[in-house]
Amino acid sequence: MSNIVKHDYHITRQDRNRQNKHGSLVIWFTGLSGSGKSTIADKLEQRLFEAGIQTYALDGDNIRSGLNKGLKFTREDRSENNRRIAEVAKLFVDAGMITITAFISPLKEDREQARAIIGDDNFIEVFVNTPLEVCEERDVKGFYKKARAGEIKNFTGISAPYEAPKNPDFEIKTEEESVEDAVGRLFSYLKEKYTYNE
Ligand code: ADX
Repeated sequence: MSNIVKHDYHITRQDRNRQNKHGSLVIWFTGLSGSGKSTIADKLEQRLFEAGIQTYALDGDNIRSGLNKGLKFTREDRSENNRRIAEVAKLFVDAGMITITAFISPLKEDREQARAIIGDDNFIEVFVNTPLEVCEERDVKGFYKKARAGEIKNFTGISAPYEAPKNPDFEIKTEEESVEDAVGRLFSYLKEKYTYNE
């Protein structure tokens, strides 16, 4: 037994949703490194912001240099990365934000844990579906080349698994659709999800 007693604060998520005139939820992007998660997340956030929505994006590379500094790319550390992000995203939902997360989040089990932590009603899984060959061809950060050469170990898609979602709530095939079109489609899809009704 821990000696911790939860304190219930008076201002609730519902109060915040009412004041903001919109609901809060998590848009959880998953996809390979270089698939376009951050680019799409960034554009989506701008679109929401311009529409007057309270929004915040939690990005793998950024969180790993702060809150999750020290976590590596072993299976255990990726799960811990995932778990902490899910807990933070849950707080942001409570704070009334349309919360965007952009992590590889390669494992089905970990994404399901995130859904369980955040709550099914508040969780939208978006699969940024870019084939490995395309990510590797683009190799924006030069990491695929290093991974192939064995200079980076446990690299997702090369020497560590990526379990693609079988039934994502929303899918973006970046080879078939422009970023603008994908963001437009996602924005319309989200609109009815975050509409706040008293
Ligand atoms: S996750 O697997 O734990 O969800 P996360 O999205 O936080 O990954 O971090 C991935 C980013 O870290 C990649 O886009 C890449 O820039 C960098 N990175 C460094 N090493 C690895 C690796 N072994 N596997 C995947 N990405 C790596």
